Amino acid sequence: MVIRLPKGTDVIGPPQSSRWREALAMWESLSASYGYELVITPTFEFTELFERGVGETNEVVTKQMYTFPDRRGRSLSLRPEGTAGVMRAYLKKGGTGLWKVAYSGPMFRYEQPQGGRRRQFWQVGVECIGSPSEAADVEVIALAETFLAKVGVETDLLINSLGDSRCRGAYLADLKEVLARSRDALCENHLELVDLNPLRILDCSTCQPDPNALPDIASYWCPDCRGHFRRVRDGLDGLGVKYRRSARLVRGLDYYSRTTFEFVSTTLETTQATVLGGGRYDGLAEALGGKPAPGVGFAAGIDRILMAAPPGPGSALDVFLVAEKPVTPTQLMEWAAPLRQAGLRVGFDLDGRSVKAQFRAATRSGAKYVGVVSGLRMEVREGYDRETLFKEGLGDWAEKAAIKEGRS
Ligand code: HAM
Repeated sequence: MVIRLPKGTDVIGPPQSSRWREALAMWESLSASYGYELVITPTFEFTELFERGVGETNEVVTKQMYTFPDRRGRSLSLRPEGTAGVMRAYLKKGGTGLWKVAYSGPMFRYEQPQGGRRRQFWQVGVECIGSPSEAADVEVIALAETFLAKVGVETDLLINSLGDSRCRGAYLADLKEVLARSRDALCENHLELVDLNPLRILDCSTCQPDPNALPDIASYWCPDCRGHFRRVRDGLDGLGVKYRRSARLVRGLDYYSRTTFEFVSTTLETTQATVLGGGRYDGLAEALGGKPAPGVGFAAGIDRILMAAPPGPGSALDVFLVAEKPVTPTQLMEWAAPLRQAGLRVGFDLDGRSVKAQFRAATRSGAKYVGVVSGLRMEVREGYDRETLFKEGLGDWAEKAAIKEGRS
């Protein structure tokens, strides 16, 4: 019997993987065009990084981390998210100046798996560390919007501001009071959080405190936070980015201050509809033991995005080479090399089978063109039309085929 996959994990193979490849390649070039350089952080870290970064009483840390001792008994955890590790890297390299970095990789959370919620999932994200300016918030939100538009996911953008350490205290005190009076409406898991971490209760879909009784953080913003949020909205308006303020948008991780945002798919079910989330985390550097450093960023879940995106064009080959005797598969590799170098997707039969079998394989592959190689000649059999070849950017191939045929 073949060994099962662990629950909440998946294999992303063809044909689905071609869409992943396209989305990830697009992410690489788009984030680079906004000036974000690649950063690669470890997949496992000391558990303390997430306890201090994400929050000791946060469910992602208390209930969802894959935590284990290493051979010397130190507690390690598979990363449940990328921001804490990126901030640690910034502090390690000196903790000063502007650092704009992008990442892409698997994250791990022990959640109840369902469509779009996995135990291993793939995030792409950016962190812009070192700037307190609202322009940084606006830029990351604009990048997020462009990315989602390019992969073809329709979303609504929700934004909020959680204030900062000066103005949030009074809000939290009033929130705790209201939640303490609403204990009957809270789920079992969250009763203990009323005092410890009341914002997490706002994030829970089972807890149902009376929305009209809940205080709105907007009434508590200090002038600086109010001004920052207004300038973020002005910036988004200036760029024509549409959004709606949601007073309950608190995000699921504890490091946020001021701006928070989520892009919610208009087609996925509500429990998995948030395809991208982020915000500002000006207190994170200090929580990790560093000097203060402001930061803002987001992460997008590729698994969910591709569930919401329309199907892609697929990954059919451009050219399938068919060998007529005495050409061998090894010689076909020589014919394929310049075409592959020109960026074409080229395939052929590796097993030296009959011409008929090779043509069947060519049809199965869905290749746009079939190049029949016999001796020193290559003839483009199907759909050969020089004009189309050039229009589709395959002109180079036509040229090279002609040169090989000695007809240059
Ligand atoms: P997050 O909201 O926890 O934020 O995750 C971001 C995105 O990752 C979600 O919107 C969702 O698309 C995807 N995601 C999260 N959990 C799962 C799961 N179990 N299965 C599938 N997809 C999932 C963060 O992780 C922050 N680090 C984002 C950030 C970066 N904030 C500032 N900078």
